[in-house]
Amino acid sequence: MDSVRRPENMARITTAALAEAFIAEQVKEIRETVGDKKVLLALSGGVDSSVVAALLIKAIGSQLISVHVNHGLMRKGESEQVIEVFRNQLKANLVYIDATDRYLDKLAGVADPEKKRKIIGAEFIRIFEEEARKLSGVEFLAQGTIYPDILESIKQAEGKKAVKSHHNVGGLPEDMQFALIEPIKLLYKDEVRVVGEALGLPHGMVYRQPFPGPGLGVRCLGAITRDRLEALREADAILREEFDNCGLAERVWQYFIAVPDIKSVGVKDDSRYEGWPAIIRAVNTKDAMTATIEEIPYPVLHKITARITSEVKGINRVLMDLTPKPTGTIEWE
Ligand code: XMP
Repeated sequence: MDSVRRPENMARITTAALAEAFIAEQVKEIRETVGDKKVLLALSGGVDSSVVAALLIKAIGSQLISVHVNHGLMRKGESEQVIEVFRNQLKANLVYIDATDRYLDKLAGVADPEKKRKIIGAEFIRIFEEEARKLSGVEFLAQGTIYPDILESIKQAEGKKAVKSHHNVGGLPEDMQFALIEPIKLLYKDEVRVVGEALGLPHGMVYRQPFPGPGLGVRCLGAITRDRLEALREADAILREEFDNCGLAERVWQYFIAVPDIKSVGVKDDSRYEGWPAIIRAVNTKDAMTATIEEIPYPVLHKITARITSEVKGINRVLMDLTPKPTGTIEWE
């Protein structure tokens, strides 16, 4: 990632017309740069990589090869949406890899959060590299770098300490030499969204809440097991559905469930029922450096609790995390 700075006179992309102009300019530039060569992209399904994919498909069609690695730590329905939007609607040249078993085997028994993050990041690079080596004629690697990433890397270069090793897809070993294409690297997130909508991506994909690179891996606390991961995925889907239904999804910056590796005694159908607690986290922030707690109306909490405890196998309690950042980070790991 080079540390190019955004020109001070660059207009903020706030309207569809400005987005169209940006897209036209980028399409022209991408075509000139790429010629008849191929471009590789790691498509996570997040806003940034999705917008880059849509932009490149518009510019060079099937010369873009998008690789979507499902690490088994995606939220419910997410990989399916990537396939539906990119392969079926946009006719992308999409390689889909279900690496769930490979990831869960590697992560089995690993409880340390930083070790988990490192395994998830390294495994991604290994899989992506394997796929890249199978392809011929690829000269470019596209990345969904955005301007805050560049600002963050400048800060890190200046020696500010990171609290967690954030993992994002896209890094490749140095012996694999690609020229980089980073068409949205001067854009802020709000501009990326305006461009995404102008490219025809679904609203839900463009306005998706932030989701960490290691996915549900950092919310299935401690050593990940398949049954607890599945419980987390189902509980999280219920939380998201209920937030959508009552309009909270539009208001809350990030909301999710974490499931710790502890069990408590409960009762179900007149019998002892040991299960995990589902912890609700719902926060607002401007830059993710600090965060405040969103107040959720009790009737909404009651409904979510009733649904999760009755519909999700293995969960017998629902708790709410009321800790701002600091002292809690947004994620639990
Ligand atoms: P924390 O937990 O550090 O999170 O308060 C701040 C924001 O960053 C997201 N996050 C990540 N994003 N890769 C990412 O792309 C990561 O490894 C990662 N870890 C945390 C978190 O979801 C929150 O929005």
